Amino acid sequence: METTEKITTIITKDIDKICLDLMRNEAAVIPTETVYGLAAKAYNPDAVLKIYEIKERPKFNPLIVHIYDEKMLEEIAEEIPDFVLKLIEKFCPGPLTFVLKKKKIIPDIVTAGLDTVAVRFPAHEMTRELIKQLKCPLCAPSANRSGKLSPTSAEEAFKELNGRVRFILDGGKCDIGIESTVIDCSGKGITMLRPGFISKEQIEKAIRRKVKDRDKADAVNSPGLMRNHYAPETPLHIIEEDNIKFVDFNKTVGKLDFEKYSSVEEIAKNLFKDIRELDEKGYSYIVARKVADEGLGIAINDRLEKASSGKLSLHKERIKLLPK
Ligand code: TXA
Ligand code: MG
Repeated sequence: METTEKITTIITKDIDKICLDLMRNEAAVIPTETVYGLAAKAYNPDAVLKIYEIKERPKFNPLIVHIYDEKMLEEIAEEIPDFVLKLIEKFCPGPLTFVLKKKKIIPDIVTAGLDTVAVRFPAHEMTRELIKQLKCPLCAPSANRSGKLSPTSAEEAFKELNGRVRFILDGGKCDIGIESTVIDCSGKGITMLRPGFISKEQIEKAIRRKVKDRDKADAVNSPGLMRNHYAPETPLHIIEEDNIKFVDFNKTVGKLDFEKYSSVEEIAKNLFKDIRELDEKGYSYIVARKVADEGLGIAINDRLEKASSGKLSLHKERIKLLPK
């Protein structure tokens, strides 16, 4: 008779426990300063495969490799341009991911067969300690089921992956709350693949070089950047108007309220948690307004776009849903 083993998921602060689990080629949830990640040893294809299975992630979507120091970077990246070294000095460890030409040591399953690898130095001390102890880079996508919101606390990660992983390393609430900035440094120029906490302007200022915005071809090369990527169960709609009277439809509407926060940093830090909380309330839909499209606001608006399932517009006090 076939028996299916039910995994009990444990939240722990014990780094050694997680270290042992990862050493045995298991996948475990780890904290980073951006969002929680689902990690496995990057050099072991069997371990990496578990990430794709647990997340139900399409195999064409490559993973970010998390490293401890520049020695590890040299181990995995073929060409490291000088401007990358400059950016590392200025922003790392921190929420900046570099796409670089990869070395053979990185298995194809990590990069979805691409000849480049995405790499970053996470800033969370617990995860830095883990990588240092393991002496092996960790690949880690966000610790959510594919297409869902990224978790920003151990409890949110538990909601996403309960019964699918053995351990969640509890490192508290993530400082930043949205995923890292991703830049492609593998070709001639520099291309912004995903906006994040570190803005395009900050990067350009640090190295006195232009950063190109990504176009359609880049989207094909970085398939994980597809549009509908962070969707809550409840439809979320971006509105332009402020004082909408939600009397239409007799439906209940949840409002993503940014007014209670005093900075964009605070909005970013609480964004996924707040959407998740509204999602759990069973509203007919959620409405959100974008923030000013500058600096970190660009990344916040990008995540809102990805979470939204269509625009709302007002017609004589009636709300009309427009397709995305
Ligand atoms: O903040 C973060 O970056 C978090 C934490 C856990 O580190 N990780 C994260 O991973 O957001 P994930 O898998 O959710 O997003 C990785 C993004 C995807 O959009 C993927 O397409 C892109 O990076 N990516 C990975 N490898 C790439 C490559 N070789 N070329 C282009 N894009 C790549
Ligand atoms: Mg993700």
